[in-house]
Amino acid sequence: MNRLVVVSNRVAVPKARGVAGAQGGLAGALNAALKKHGGVWFGWSGQECEEFTGNINLQRHEGVTTATVDLGHQDIEEYYNGYANSTLWPLFHFRLDLTEYERETGKGYERVNERFAESVAPLVDRDDLVWVHDYHLLPLGARLRERGLRNRMGFFLHTPWPPTRLFVSLPYHERLVRTMLEYDLIGFQTDEWLESFCHYCKKELGAEVDEDSGRIAYDGRVTHARAYPIGIDYEHLMAQAETGEARQAGQRLLASTRRRTAMIGVDRLDYSKGLPERLDGIARFFDNHPERVRDVVFIQIAPPSREDVESYQRIRATLEQKAGQINGARSEVDVVPIRYVNKGHSLAELCGFYRAAKIGLVTPLRDGMNLVAKEYVAAQDPEDPGVLILSRFAGAARQLTDAVLVNPHSPDDLAQAIDMALCMPLEERKRRWEAMIKTVREDNVQRWTENFTNDLAALQPQDRSG
Ligand code: F6P
Repeated sequence: MNRLVVVSNRVAVPKARGVAGAQGGLAGALNAALKKHGGVWFGWSGQECEEFTGNINLQRHEGVTTATVDLGHQDIEEYYNGYANSTLWPLFHFRLDLTEYERETGKGYERVNERFAESVAPLVDRDDLVWVHDYHLLPLGARLRERGLRNRMGFFLHTPWPPTRLFVSLPYHERLVRTMLEYDLIGFQTDEWLESFCHYCKKELGAEVDEDSGRIAYDGRVTHARAYPIGIDYEHLMAQAETGEARQAGQRLLASTRRRTAMIGVDRLDYSKGLPERLDGIARFFDNHPERVRDVVFIQIAPPSREDVESYQRIRATLEQKAGQINGARSEVDVVPIRYVNKGHSLAELCGFYRAAKIGLVTPLRDGMNLVAKEYVAAQDPEDPGVLILSRFAGAARQLTDAVLVNPHSPDDLAQAIDMALCMPLEERKRRWEAMIKTVREDNVQRWTENFTNDLAALQPQDRSG
């Protein structure tokens, strides 16, 4: 088996995995892959230093070697807060209204990708598979090729890929995608994002694209593009769900709701997650059924994220105001309809909350996949499962077709879905859950990493001598 060199913006060591649910699924997924293959996981330490030195901090935790570098203030501003999270993230989530473009941040993004390449190249042995992750590092493969690496290199995008008509609004879009075609294999979460990428390559670059096989021929080289829907670490989650910590968390929540039915949402505090729209839907539900304030409560867990980026500061303020307004107008002295919590929780606690909540609301406006949806399903009691209300715009909706699918922009649709979920007979809840749990259990993160790494290993190394 080939060793793996994984590169991603952040590196999360196994002991920090408790926050996987709210922080995105990348951490759990990559730890599992590295344990199996051996190798190293490289990325930013998350720490700021005065000047970039390139010093690598090597550590070993539970069988996984991590290699991290600190970044300077300007690098973090331009690469992470700037181009990655103020340009690419909103654009990839179809939010042209929030997409900012500044030449300086673009340069910072290129500079950090170059710094990453400089640090990673010496860690790579001849037969290693290199697996790069996410929108922070689109050009990294090309920078590694310039340093002479001939290894098989794969890239996985955890976010959506936008339609061509949106993507072309990015200055220098061709240059960015041309660098991506230096990877041998590019993975997307769903067929939808894959098709958009292939469409772009064909229409804008004039690449030869075979849509059935995902073979993209361009400028004398071949890239394969395929969909690999990411899953959760099912066994790990089940083990967490069985802990005393999970049981206590569930009991704590149930005791506090005093027999009211709990609905839950767990999301990073991000505008892509549709949180104000979700609150509007919940307000509509309570307006339609004012008496239900006494027997239904909604709990939103939303740990703050990317706090130095202005659009994230705005969404936080919007949510605080909205939650306050909704509660102010609908609370009684002894009951409050919405509990809004900014604190992060361990995966075990989340499992307890998921199981205690009879409805899980996962309603992003756009999401590459969304693993909270899968975690909610996995944590349910098979004898009395809760109902998942899922946005049709999350990648997960392509797999979890037995969820109650909604348009997150429509408060009426959300309110109706809540109504339907509250009235759903046990038999129907079980039928839907059994269909979903099968997918969640089988299409797990181990299968995802195996599928991607096996496909990458099976590709012929290309002749890059010319
Ligand atoms: O889901 C996308 C993603 O960037 C993940 O890679 C990451 O774990 C998560 O969002 C959290 O983002 P950040 O690293 O910016 O806090």
